[in-house]
Amino acid sequence: MGSGQVMVMLLLLSCVAFEPADGAFLSWSESVLQLFSTAEQPSACGPKVGIETPKCKVILKKRDYELRRCNSKEIWVETMLENSTYESATITGFYRCTNSLGFEITAPVYITPVPRSNGYKVAFFVSSRIKNVNDLPTSTDPEVYFYRPEGAVKAVLGPFGGFPTDKDYAAKVVELKKALDRDGLKYDEKSTLFADYSSPLQFRNRKQEVHVNIISHNAFERLHVLKWLPQ
Ligand SMILES: *[C@@H]1O[C@H](CO)[C@@H](O)[C@H](O)[C@H]1NC(C)=O
Repeated sequence: MGSGQVMVMLLLLSCVAFEPADGAFLSWSESVLQLFSTAEQPSACGPKVGIETPKCKVILKKRDYELRRCNSKEIWVETMLENSTYESATITGFYRCTNSLGFEITAPVYITPVPRSNGYKVAFFVSSRIKNVNDLPTSTDPEVYFYRPEGAVKAVLGPFGGFPTDKDYAAKVVELKKALDRDGLKYDEKSTLFADYSSPLQFRNRKQEVHVNIISHNAFERLHVLKWLPQ
């Protein structure tokens, strides 16, 4: 079968699969494009930075953001910095999490603003070579803890470059939330975080994103149509 025929078949399929009942959240041409892009690299997700990053699957690509389905099998190491500025939280958080543990370097670092504590949570993704909680080193710092995130659908804006300050990140968050509001997707404010994929010593080609979890049941219903994409 030639690629032209495949294309025609996909177009036909997409007409069948996408009923306009839900207000045509995805136009079918958009979905076909998306099918092609996901079919190309089924496991690739998020910026490529040459070190291990968490597995996820892009389920929707929009002009200004994408939705990723993230699994819940991975382990993260995290610390909470109360009464802290963004700059000091990232530096202290980095040393606390990496010092005693000796992990392979991975990306990204998640920095979550916690307004009620006037500070930030800083978390690192633990290499997937550590599969079992029992294989984790014992943390010598009581302020450092491990956790497995819940599986989630995340809305992501980025990557963007430079050395963003907390204000720069906050502006990107506003941009992301505007786009989600426009598309009628509900999100969990508390899950808002900054994702930094670049070492502080890297000056060019830096990559950062902002994330927020999609929550509403209704939103998942509207996304249901994406099950048609190859898994
Ligand atoms: C942060 O500030 C609050 C209010 O001043 C204080 O009660 C709390 O103990 C501080 N936390 C830390 C870890 O210093």
